Amino acid sequence: MNSNSIAAQSNITNHISAHYPISWSMCRAEQATLIQILKNIKPKVAIEIGTYNGGSLQVISDYSEKVYAVDLTPSYRDKRCDNLSNVDYLIGDSNRIIPELVKKINNSDDIVEFILIDGDHSSEGVLEDIINVLKLKPKQPITIILHDSFNPACRKGMRLYDYNANPFVNYVELDYVTGAFNHDGLYREMWGGFACIALTPEKRLTALEISAYQDKLFKTTYYRSIHFFRKFFWFLKPFYKVFKK
Ligand SMILES: C[S@@+](CC[C@H](N)C(=O)[O-])C[C@H]1O[C@@H](n2cnc3c(N)ncnc32)[C@H](O)[C@@H]1O
Repeated sequence: MNSNSIAAQSNITNHISAHYPISWSMCRAEQATLIQILKNIKPKVAIEIGTYNGGSLQVISDYSEKVYAVDLTPSYRDKRCDNLSNVDYLIGDSNRIIPELVKKINNSDDIVEFILIDGDHSSEGVLEDIINVLKLKPKQPITIILHDSFNPACRKGMRLYDYNANPFVNYVELDYVTGAFNHDGLYREMWGGFACIALTPEKRLTALEISAYQDKLFKTTYYRSIHFFRKFFWFLKPFYKVFKK
């Protein structure tokens, strides 16, 4: 099959890219879920941490009245994002920008209803983003989607927040959408997946249970992944590099 016919086939089967042409760093299941969530909520205000090309942003912008899009750099952003007239681009480290933005929103009439966290993928970076966005006072229910909950570092960051200490958190699911095992020879990484956190304006009265619906799948995959290997067999790295060649 030549490359033209492969391209034609992927156009035929990719119903999402027909509507949203900017490339995404998300799989089809994640794209479809994100579209459906936004279609249901139609947020007055949305926040995205981690814009990159603008793949997820093109959808968030489509369904929201106003979007704050945060990224370290605008350099990867697709030119077509310039047409998204309801987006306010905030350039810099989310760790600095989100606290300022949250303070501004808490003192304004802005009603945040949706947040995507997909920026710094280290455990500390994910945790900082959660700590900072969860300082928002919910005026309406807020749905927060966190990308890459199947990645061990991101998942660890997502687990580190003390959700029970925040009375507005009413739901936490680490496997809202299950992630994937990228088994490219020896390079076996775990990525993708959506965690979901729901906030409500009413305070929670009972203890909260953090759900991880596919934790067994996560653990089974982890022991076969490069993440486990790197953590416990780091001293074999020079041999691994030779073997990989
Ligand atoms: C995986 S990409 C986002 C993909 C995008 N959400 C999508 O689905 O198309 C991650 C982005 O987060 C940005 N990023 C990483 N660390 C960040 C930080 N501390 N503050 C703001 N943005 C950050 C990177 O520059 C990169 O563009």
